[in-house]
Amino acid sequence: MSTTRTIPLSSPWLDEREEEVVLEVLRSGRLSLGPTIDRFEEAFAEVVGAPYAAAVSSGTAGLHLLCVAAGIGPGDEVVTSPYSFVASANCAIYEGATPVFADIDPVTLNLDPGAVEAAMSERTKAVVAVDIYGYPCELAELRALCERHGVPLIDDACEALGASYRGQRIGSHGPSAVFAFYPNKQVTTAEGGMVTTHSEEEWRLLRSLRNQGRADSGGWLEHARLGFNYRIDDVRAAMGIVQLEKLPEILARRQAAAARYSDLLAGVPGLDLPCADDAEHARSWFVYVVALPEGTDRERVIAELERNGVQTARYLPCIHLQPYLRERYGFAEGLCPVAEAMSARTLALPFHTGIDEADQAYVADALRTALE
Ligand SMILES: Cc1ncc(COP(=O)(O)O)c(C=O)c1O
Repeated sequence: MSTTRTIPLSSPWLDEREEEVVLEVLRSGRLSLGPTIDRFEEAFAEVVGAPYAAAVSSGTAGLHLLCVAAGIGPGDEVVTSPYSFVASANCAIYEGATPVFADIDPVTLNLDPGAVEAAMSERTKAVVAVDIYGYPCELAELRALCERHGVPLIDDACEALGASYRGQRIGSHGPSAVFAFYPNKQVTTAEGGMVTTHSEEEWRLLRSLRNQGRADSGGWLEHARLGFNYRIDDVRAAMGIVQLEKLPEILARRQAAAARYSDLLAGVPGLDLPCADDAEHARSWFVYVVALPEGTDRERVIAELERNGVQTARYLPCIHLQPYLRERYGFAEGLCPVAEAMSARTLALPFHTGIDEADQAYVADALRTALE
């Protein structure tokens, strides 16, 4: 195989339209706290079917604000997934709470509701569920569990814009949800995030918290509560509006690209492909992550793909085994055996909205060869 080719793991999908609207904002002089942010929020709320949306500076900021809104503090526990990006646990740690990791389902890679139930205690103050790789979590069961315990469910939907659960988009169901717009996401604003909520009161609180604790009624130097600077700006919001307009095409292209990989990789012995949609879960394709055959030396496969110019990523390391969490809470191997086993096997292949069909065929060939 030629080694001159490089196939990137990810790439944003932008054109002149984003450039035009960014320039318009730059020339308008309203760079932040301007009307473009309101328009982005309104458009986003409509797209996901939520009554309220509050734009923030990142997905992490959104998750943190929902933890603040839930009143999470020292001594509290927050149950979450070990198979996720660190921010879904960090958001609770920022407020002094202890993350409690419940194991995942080996097929969906999302939280196993039975494990969540077993992990809940009288100290549980919230559950942060993740729609990993854009596949909706078990919303109904998790919601029922949280209602029984009288604690909020926070939906980390950072990877799931456009996904649906029971026929309705993530964001429309009620639990407050957080979306993220880093450049590898379905929709990007470079950096940015959005929180959707079904409570006007929570929406007003989020808008205050992201804006240094200012109240709607107060002045610029009046702070009603301890807040943060977690604002998005009008430049990013303008990009977001254009990207949202493209969402149907983005989702369709990503779905087609995923289907192509699944065809190209069908029948590779022992290779597990991302789980298919079912009657309740419709994925929004964020990444294409395979689980290598059991016993495969993943590092050898990664190195061989790299030699052939194919970028990959070890999605996702278990959060509880990250150095700072081992050190701080004494977490070790064996805490979440399913997540640990899947995490050792899973690998993200190059995947983005504009991925070329020939590149996908090349990646699939390279992977097949590496696994022979
Ligand atoms: C599951 C999950 N949660 C949270 C985040 C954090 O989003 P951001 O990078 O915008 O802070 C990400 C983004 O990578 C994510 O994938």
